[in-house]
Amino acid sequence: MNLRIPTIALLASLVTNGAAITLLQAIGNYPQLSTLNTYITNSSNVTNLLSNANNFTFLAPSNTAIADFLTGTKDNVLTEGLLEATVQYSLLRGGYPKLSFTTAPQFPATSLSNASYTNVTAGQAVELLLDSNGAPQIMSGNKSTAGTTTTDIVCTGGIIHIVSEVLSVPMQAVSEFTAAGLDYFIAILNNGGFLNSANAGYVNTVLELKDITYFIPNSAAALANATALASNASSADLQSIFQYHVVPDFVGYSSLLKDGLSLTTAQGSNITITRQNGDLYVNAAKVIASDYIVANGVVHVLDNLLDRNNPSPPPAPTDATPSSTPTPTTTSIPTANTALDKSVPSKGLTTGATIGIAVGAAVGGVLLLAAIAFFFVRRHKQNKRQSGVWSEQSVVGHGEKGNLYRPPRPELVTQEHEMRPGMHSPAPDVPMRSPDRV
Ligand SMILES: *[C@@H]1O[C@H](CO)[C@@H](O)[C@H](O)[C@H]1NC(C)=O
Ligand SMILES: *[C@@H]1O[C@H](CO)[C@@H](O)[C@H](O)[C@H]1NC(C)=O
Ligand SMILES: *[C@@H]1O[C@H](CO)[C@@H](O)[C@H](O)[C@H]1NC(C)=O
Ligand SMILES: *[C@@H]1O[C@H](CO)[C@@H](O)[C@H](O)[C@H]1NC(C)=O
Ligand SMILES: *[C@@H]1O[C@H](CO)[C@@H](O)[C@H](O)[C@H]1NC(C)=O
Ligand SMILES: *[C@@H]1O[C@H](CO)[C@@H](O)[C@H](O)[C@H]1NC(C)=O
Ligand SMILES: *[C@@H]1O[C@H](CO)[C@@H](O)[C@H](O)[C@H]1NC(C)=O
Ligand SMILES: *[C@@H]1O[C@H](CO)[C@@H](O)[C@H](O)[C@H]1NC(C)=O
Ligand SMILES: *[C@@H]1O[C@H](CO)[C@@H](O)[C@H](O)[C@H]1NC(C)=O
Repeated sequence: MNLRIPTIALLASLVTNGAAITLLQAIGNYPQLSTLNTYITNSSNVTNLLSNANNFTFLAPSNTAIADFLTGTKDNVLTEGLLEATVQYSLLRGGYPKLSFTTAPQFPATSLSNASYTNVTAGQAVELLLDSNGAPQIMSGNKSTAGTTTTDIVCTGGIIHIVSEVLSVPMQAVSEFTAAGLDYFIAILNNGGFLNSANAGYVNTVLELKDITYFIPNSAAALANATALASNASSADLQSIFQYHVVPDFVGYSSLLKDGLSLTTAQGSNITITRQNGDLYVNAAKVIASDYIVANGVVHVLDNLLDRNNPSPPPAPTDATPSSTPTPTTTSIPTANTALDKSVPSKGLTTGATIGIAVGAAVGGVLLLAAIAFFFVRRHKQNKRQSGVWSEQSVVGHGEKGNLYRPPRPELVTQEHEMRPGMHSPAPDVPMRSPDRV
């Protein structure tokens, strides 16, 4: 893109001339954002945050999204604290225009870094991807999925997409295990004695650390193995087994789990990532669901236990079965991604015609093209830099309001359980999303 220098200069000059509208003005211009606008106006912290934002993508919940968030089964109470956290979480760092969404998920950092709500140092992430129809989709905590109703509203400093769901601030890992229905894993915790209060020290430590990747075994085979192991393992062995499934100081979204990557676990030994035939493996265990974003990192689900004494990768694929189905992944794993095909409709810059309305007559089509080029250049750079460490740039407003909301902080180790092997009869596998292919 050799237009880079001129377009950036042009965009900058238009913005400094005051030709473009601000984020708050843009929100005020859309009737479907009037509820959001009321909340923003009512909170000085949120107003400050959005007034001072720069280089952002704001995922603005529509009136229906907010109404849905507050009523029915969700029935959330939007305290000032939760409002502020949710708006911070909806304010992505960097430009993500519609055209930058891909079938491979991306995990941009947001402006949410308040330790009352998250312990991801670089800013809690959301997942961006294209759905099976090639439409932008945003996944947040508990795999809540939001579509977009209007995209690419341009304003000074960034882009707004109007979303159909309020983003869900990710919950604690312990709560996610339950919410995601990881029944075998809960049974493993029980049968392995990990719920015993004697083990609270290391179990709770792992659950409360910052910046964690959890590899969670959740299958009948894993439960059988764990139960057998537990019947004859020392408590030190059980601790090692537990800690071998956790990687500290690394938030390993699937987009970062490259083939051959070696990661040091909380136990001290390494695990190895392998990508093979479109599947993602940790040692020899297959990732059967990926990217549950939690308060302090990310959870991936495995089809078996990890064995620290046998860190070998999966068996190499044999080419001796040429007549078998060429795409075993999509046939064997229930997946929300299965329907994604590679032929995402390509969008010309003419889609920008709609954006022009938001920008206003003063700016016109030139700014539109400039803005798209600008964000693309930037996005491209950011992709290259995305290595698990985002630059910290705290965007917290100032104000005076008190706060009511604390996210639930259940302690996993609260019971005086003895190990009771075989006590559970686990439920059948929950359909889950497959690992993402890179
Ligand atoms: C505005 O903020 C005050 C104080 O935080 C709160 O009591 C009131 O319910 C809010 N009103 C709306 C419409 O959000
Ligand atoms: C973080 O969130 C808590 C709870 O809502 C709030 O009391 C506190 O002021 C926030 N911290 C900052 C720096 O905004
Ligand atoms: C915008 O933010 C992204 C993400 O933090 C960063 O990589 C990029 O360098 C920033 N661009 C500019 C022009 O500041
Ligand atoms: C973040 O970590 C701190 C210190 O361990 C803890 O007090 C806080 O509850 C954690 N926040 C979340 C949202 O998990
Ligand atoms: C998490 O998602 C599941 C499935 O969508 C839902 O049943 C559950 O109520 C959700 N939990 C929370 C805390 O949002
Ligand atoms: C239990 O552990 C001991 C010592 O590690 C070993 O000799 C024995 O074979 C194990 N028994 C079973 C049933 O695994
Ligand atoms: C373990 O992983 C770390 C982090 O990737 C790496 O630096 C180290 O060399 C690895 N150790 C072994 C023995 O592979
Ligand atoms: C778990 O059991 C399977 C057989 O079901 C076996 O192949 C595997 O090695 C076992 N893994 C561990 C960690 O014990
Ligand atoms: C608003 O921001 C100020 C300064 O960061 C903080 O002290 C206050 O607690 C925040 N209010 C809420 C409700 O988070």
